[in-house]
Amino acid sequence: MAESITITDNRTGDSIEVPIIDGGVSSAEWRKLLPNVWFYDEALMTTAPTTSGVSYLDGDAGILRYRGYPIEQLAQNSTYLEVAYLLIYGELPTQAQYDEWVHDITYHTFIHENVRKRFLEGFHYDAHPMGMLVSAVAALSTFYPEAKNIADPEVRQKQIVRLIAKMPTLAAAAHRFSVGMPFVYPDNSLPFAENFLSMMFKVAEPRFAADPAVGRALDVLFILHADHEQNCGTTALRTVASAHADPYSACAAACAALYGPRHGGANEAVIHMLTDIGSLENVPAFLEAVKAGKGRLQGFGHRVYKNYDPRAKIIKETADEVFAITGKNPLLDIALKLEEVALSDDYFLSRKLYPNVDFYSGLIYQALGFPIEMFTVLFAIPRTSGWLAHWKELLEQDQKIARPRQIYIGPDERSYVPISAR
Ligand code: CMC
Repeated sequence: MAESITITDNRTGDSIEVPIIDGGVSSAEWRKLLPNVWFYDEALMTTAPTTSGVSYLDGDAGILRYRGYPIEQLAQNSTYLEVAYLLIYGELPTQAQYDEWVHDITYHTFIHENVRKRFLEGFHYDAHPMGMLVSAVAALSTFYPEAKNIADPEVRQKQIVRLIAKMPTLAAAAHRFSVGMPFVYPDNSLPFAENFLSMMFKVAEPRFAADPAVGRALDVLFILHADHEQNCGTTALRTVASAHADPYSACAAACAALYGPRHGGANEAVIHMLTDIGSLENVPAFLEAVKAGKGRLQGFGHRVYKNYDPRAKIIKETADEVFAITGKNPLLDIALKLEEVALSDDYFLSRKLYPNVDFYSGLIYQALGFPIEMFTVLFAIPRTSGWLAHWKELLEQDQKIARPRQIYIGPDERSYVPISAR
């Protein structure tokens, strides 16, 4: 075999030659030699539990492509809804396909009144919007019980459209409730990102008209966040979807994973960190504390990127465009200084810790007027199209239910002791 490895079981002397295909070794092959020997792989760091054609990532070279298209080209030329189409169907749409897709999404942005009145408005007044979003996405499955029929391609298609379309509405509704503002209905005459801005920020004006440059900047951020292969949230989605749960339940699981500060919650953590640092003079001392193990430099480091995250590069440029309209976020200087000092420090260089997507995105969101609690929600809105691309792919692959093994390290068998004798 041209590319292969040989595994020998030293207990028996038996060997097996296993081909390396597409950079991977199939466990089905080596299991023939080693039945009941589990491959211990904490956090699936070296396991590829699936094949996927959705996005390609080369962490050492800092490359990200959706369906083969470099992220830089998509951010420059495309729209979020076109990218969502690309991720889900594998090809860029024709004009006719695009128009139909945008129309479908636009006409599914409304949520059932009871989603808002019974669910969202039932939360405590200070509920975190991400917690509300996780619950509301799961609750949608009870409004669309036909979604359980995942074998029907038409049903799948309908839920894909509904989820992509309703995420901004749910997100804005969660925000409006948390600040005591009335709900704003979607405006079908507005593009996707601008409609979201209208639902977020409209007050008494008859029609909210966002600066188109701001709408475009948000759309670019949506493009950059749309997919990122087998990250924690997508893995959660694939695990739940492999049990054939409906797509709302599977996306709610992905949303819950995204909520964590090590994942989509990092953009929120970055702003807290920059605010705590407070001024440029405090940057060196802060980095020394990080190096001494007292906390992490939020927005730095990535499980896969061992180079500058290509999304962070584009976001940095977008930040300049946004600040030209909104005025500079005063935390930007601290962020730039942190990056400069960290990237000339051996601690960060030797560990290949570079800014990731979350390092600058929060600064833009803040300048656009989004409260910090909304940052992860802003990540979840576009990531929904990536999740659904993986959901569709998994069903088409007819993937088995996810069911890993464990290495048991608990006690051996022992006898129950009555409570009086303990
Ligand atoms: N600041 C300081 N040190 C760090 C950081 C950081 N942000 N990230 C990693 N390290 C150090 C870590 O202490 C370890 O050092 P040592 O080898 O001396 O023990 C080494 O680098 C490797 O770290 P690790 O924890 O094994 O790396 P990981 O691949 O498990 O963690 C990460 C990846 C993203 C969880 C981590 O880099 C981190 O916590 N970063 C800050 C949070 C963050 O920005 N998350 C957003 C990720 S991008 C958005 C997304 O895709 O969700």
